Order: sequence, then structure tokens, then C-alpha cells
Amino acid sequence: MIITIDGPAGAGKSTAAKLLAKKINFQFLDTGAMYRAVAFAALKTGAPTFDEPFLQKIIDGITINLLEGRVLLNGQDVSMQIRAKETTEIAGVIATSKVVRTKLVELQRIAAFEKNMVCEGRDQGTTVFPDAFCKFFLTARPEMRAQRRFLELQEKGINTTLQEILDAIITRDQRDENREISPLTPAHDAMILDTSDMNMNKVIEVMHEEIQRRGIK
Ligand code: DC
Repeated sequence: MIITIDGPAGAGKSTAAKLLAKKINFQFLDTGAMYRAVAFAALKTGAPTFDEPFLQKIIDGITINLLEGRVLLNGQDVSMQIRAKETTEIAGVIATSKVVRTKLVELQRIAAFEKNMVCEGRDQGTTVFPDAFCKFFLTARPEMRAQRRFLELQEKGINTTLQEILDAIITRDQRDENREISPLTPAHDAMILDTSDMNMNKVIEVMHEEIQRRGIK
């Protein structure tokens, strides 16, 4: 059984997905981490541009495993590195690639096959799992999302400014919403939650109520 949580950066998807999965005893899939891992692998080659044949080679030459919240690229733990600014930026760029999306969608379906899983990303309810049991779309005002990301990065000791994050969020939103393949948009049957003025407990409560309403305890 699949529950999808989609939405823009900083809307609280990751935290909500993790907490909800724990509450209902589901596994959790962070699909953004997969795009980030591909971006990290591409960046490591030092190539100046990332065209489709190049990305095909990258995709064919790597393995990505998500293990208990850690991200393994070719067996090596890159959980921290994939959160760096440059990798974040390039993840948004390579997420427009057809070869990358095709491969990662396939890996996501394999990862979730016959599992109870909360799958979090941008296209989980629209493209990857259109028949999901329950779909959520989390959003929030850009200023609010930037503020949350800023605090998150500060906690991790990553040096940045609020304005820099807000600018990056706006750029990334535009790229995610306007790309040709699987643009960021709510599934027609998703429950849309604006989390701007909600704390995380409330978000989980609302999602849990909706799931219970559909028969899961
Ligand atoms: O959620 P995140 O910030 O870790 O995602 C990193 C990038 O990957 C972001 O620019 C959007 C993209 N992405 C996507 O296109 N589709 C997904 N299912 C998940 C992430």
C-alpha cells in the first residue's frame, strides 16, 4: 500500500513522511535523495555540462541504495554530501532529464513493490504511483519554506543566508513546476495541505485522520 507526499522544497514533506511512516508502521522513501545522489555522481566527474548521453552513462554506472535514512552511492555513504548547496542546485537541473527520471521512476517502483511505503517527492502521486491509496500535496509560502530550510541547514552546520535560500527556493520551484516531464503539480485526487501556519504535529494529525478515514489505523 502506497501513500504519496509531494510538494515544493521546504514544505515539510520529508519530516512529515518520516513521522507519518513511523506512526502507521510503513517504510519511507525519500526520492529527492535519489536525484541528489545522481547529481553528486555527475558533479564528481567534473564535466562542464550534463547532456542526455552523459547522464545515461552516469545512471548506468551507479547504484543507489537508501538504507535506514542513509543514502549509499556505489556502496559509499553520501548522506551529508548530497545536501550541499552545489548538489542541491544540480539535482534540480538533472531532475529535468528524461533518462534520469525514467531510471529513478523505475527504481522507485521496484523499491515500493508489495511494500507499505510513504513515498515523498514531486511526482509520486502524479506519475510514479497514480493508483496510490492516499495522496497528499504539502505546500507553504516561499518565505516560510526558506525560513525552515535555513534553520535546518544551520542545525547541520551548513553556512548560508536566508535570502540566498529564498532565492534558491524560488528558482527551484520555477524549474520544478515548468519542466516538461512530471512537472511539480498536485495529483487531481491529492489532499492539499498548506503548512505555512501549521506545526508538524498538526500536519501529521490531519494526514493521519485522512488515512484513518480510509480504513488504516
Ligand atoms: O526534495 P529534495 O529537495 O531533496 O529534491 C531534490 C531535487 O530533486 C529537487 O530539485 C526536485 C527533484 N525531485 C524531483 O524532481 N522529483 C522527485 N520525485 C523528487 C525530487
